[in-house]
Amino acid sequence: MESNELFRRRKSVRSYTGKLSQTALRSVLDAAQLSPVGMGRFESVHLTVIQNALLDEIDRNAGAAFGDAGKHPLYGAPCLILVSAKLGDPANGNVPYSNAAILAESMALAAIDANLGSCLIWGAVRALNANPALVAKLNLPDGFVPCCGVIVGETSDKMEVREVRNRIAVDYII
Ligand SMILES: Cc1cc2nc3c(=O)[nH]c(=O)nc-3n(C[C@H](O)[C@H](O)[C@H](O)COP(=O)(O)O)c2cc1C
Repeated sequence: MESNELFRRRKSVRSYTGKLSQTALRSVLDAAQLSPVGMGRFESVHLTVIQNALLDEIDRNAGAAFGDAGKHPLYGAPCLILVSAKLGDPANGNVPYSNAAILAESMALAAIDANLGSCLIWGAVRALNANPALVAKLNLPDGFVPCCGVIVGETSDKMEVREVRNRIAVDYII
């Protein structure tokens, strides 16, 4: 898909059929592998692809943390790709959270081309980090902290081409 069309079709999807092919998932993960990482320190970021019962646990943990156990902050998506980064290493400077965000957005954009819905997830990751026992189930390498995630999966939502809305303030200093 041409990039201009890709950006116009991008939107957060919060309704999923529950299906996800391995091929589509692979193309989403490939986009992360092609993403830039500050100072080229690719070893400072880590992906965890979650498709089993842990997905439901993370969803329920977030629902409870948000004060509504019936709420599903992962929206029934069949897959959460969690992006973790090594925090606290002075050599990584101020880039770890930015690296994580860039990887997540690359995957979200790749999802459109793979005919998948996606949504960036920060809220449920904050709730996850407040539950060390749940974080332990991720078996992350030492020093890595979940920063954000992206849910992906097939959806019945239509990805219509949207008009550009000038919602963000822009100053020109010329
Ligand atoms: C840093 C960041 C964190 C976000 N976290 C969440 C989240 O936890 N849950 C959610 O449903 N959407 C989340 N979103 C999606 C935004 O709510 C969404 O992008 C915004 O409302 C605009 O809608 P659109 O993406 O459909 O254009 C997040 C987006 C960004 C950029």
